[in-house]
Amino acid sequence: MSVTDDIKAKLDILDVVAPYATIQKSGRTFKANCPFHTERTPSFIVSPERQSWRCFGACATGGDIFSFVMRAENLQFGDALRLLARRAGVELQTSGERAQSNAIHSVNSAAATYYQETLASETGARARGYLDERGVGQRAREQFKLGLSPSGWDGLKRYLQTHGLKLEDAIEAGLARQGEDGRTWDFFRNRLMFPIFDRDHNIAGFGGRALDDSNPKYINTAQTEVFDKRNILYALNFAAPTIRQSGTAIIVEGYMDAIAAHERGYANVVASMGTALTENQVSQMRSLAQDFVLALDPDAAGQEATLRSLESSWRVFRSVAARRGRSGQSVLSQWKPPALKIAALPAGLDPDALIRSDVDRWDAALSDALPLLDFVIPALVERTDLTIPDSRAAVVRELGRLINQLDEMDQYEYWGRLADALGVPLDTLSAAIASTRPRRGRRRDPDGWQSDQAVEVSSKVLRQGGTNTVEEYVLALLIQRPSLIDSAGEVSPECFRHTENRELFTTLLAYPTIVELRDAVEPELVAHLDRLRAAESPQSAQRESHDALKECLRRLELQHEREKQETLSQTDEPGDPPSWEVEAHIRQVNQRIRELEPMGVRQAANARMRR
Ligand code: UTP
Ligand code: MN
Repeated sequence: MSVTDDIKAKLDILDVVAPYATIQKSGRTFKANCPFHTERTPSFIVSPERQSWRCFGACATGGDIFSFVMRAENLQFGDALRLLARRAGVELQTSGERAQSNAIHSVNSAAATYYQETLASETGARARGYLDERGVGQRAREQFKLGLSPSGWDGLKRYLQTHGLKLEDAIEAGLARQGEDGRTWDFFRNRLMFPIFDRDHNIAGFGGRALDDSNPKYINTAQTEVFDKRNILYALNFAAPTIRQSGTAIIVEGYMDAIAAHERGYANVVASMGTALTENQVSQMRSLAQDFVLALDPDAAGQEATLRSLESSWRVFRSVAARRGRSGQSVLSQWKPPALKIAALPAGLDPDALIRSDVDRWDAALSDALPLLDFVIPALVERTDLTIPDSRAAVVRELGRLINQLDEMDQYEYWGRLADALGVPLDTLSAAIASTRPRRGRRRDPDGWQSDQAVEVSSKVLRQGGTNTVEEYVLALLIQRPSLIDSAGEVSPECFRHTENRELFTTLLAYPTIVELRDAVEPELVAHLDRLRAAESPQSAQRESHDALKECLRRLELQHEREKQETLSQTDEPGDPPSWEVEAHIRQVNQRIRELEPMGVRQAANARMRR
């Protein structure tokens, strides 16, 4: 998650706007007299669903919390960022920390190359044999940049030195260790190396697997400025587009599992790296998908630790549904609440083994995945000694917390199932049920579950995503081919939904050459800029680039107009006829949408309207 996403997830547009305007609910939106120009009838509309604002009157502009504060306080992006970050309690990296992160990414990248070269060399023969044995193909080895750390104590150290990299950075990156006597040595030795990428394809850390049965099987980079195992999902950088496209994320445990899955075309698979899913990890995926399938090793399934981790994942997932329940139908009505299912694999087979030996059974396990409670009730009951009186109560208490979060109808259903599983009549459960139910009128349940913060994060994060790829493609094109910038000048920066992208685009229009741009851009955006600069340019010819650019801009504008259209359609109470101003704006927007839509789509839309 980028820092602006993080801030947006923690602040509400209504709270940000409220000090500057008297807002009133109107349909699914809020209206106010525009704080940026004088007017009698309100044409300033805030959409809490989109977390956006727009003046449909004289200003004819809009945006998100950042652009609002920039305008309201007359601030540059960087200052608005700092102000809102403070308010959201989000820590921004200082320039020193940013430099440190960059240094770590560079040294990690060099190390990955060294490990790859070692794997390809004579030294790597045995490790290559191991990968052959495990069925890892050449393409996967390259995609995942698999490598080998040699068994000496200073191979990497020397490689980094000859490539002009600093030993201190290697130590900061966790690649080298330093003893009290000042001596240093390579941390990873004689291990198969799995670089762990962040969402932006930077190498944040490494996992290193022993080449035999020795323990520990894996060692991983310890916590660094850029790496925290709890905040990263292995393979998410590769999986994100497919997850977004399919709406489903599949979560496995291990590096080898994720690689096997990707190798066989299951590109929406990420690995939790052996630990319980954290809120941070879940919220990264929630911005991409609605459906989540956890592929579980059946041996682990009934175990205490697994149930704990399932419970904590469940908590995060349910919070979205809880918000939906609380706010009536409105806020999330167009989104399905995210669903968490469990795929139980055949005994003794982890995803890697199953995918490589019997892909049909893997498919079946995925399609037979069960909603979490259907899975947990029997698993929990099975591992409980029901002859101990207190143990039943404990099961009821634990599952009660989960069941109570469901809709009334589902609650009834699951209490019934629990009674069956425990072998007690439903009546007998009633007393226990009453004691687990939260008291009325309380916003949180007794255990303080669903912190409101988490609830806020979920719904807003859900809304994001989708266009980022097109936006970044446009930016990469423009950065790499400044001659195209003139053709992009008519497009409003507002069409860029993603805050960082919008700011880069704005800056780019004013400072079209890379040298100027790099100086002009806010320090917080430099890393983003550099990444786009380094992005592979898919279009080589000038003419094709131009056409591709036009098409992308058309799409971005179309989407922007559609969002305007939707906001407008939501501003009046259902049943009331729209005011004539709103109607005039709707006409205008509709006109523009017709101009932007390709023919086929237009016919389809007309057909829909006639129905
Ligand atoms: P597994 O033991 O299932 O490993 O642990 P794996 O990836 O399937 O590897 P193979 O198939 O045995 O070669 C799952 C994940 O847990 C983390 C790693 O991320 C691993 O991929 N793990 C496991 C560790 O960090 N350290 C360990 O010692 C073991
Ligand atoms: Mn395995």
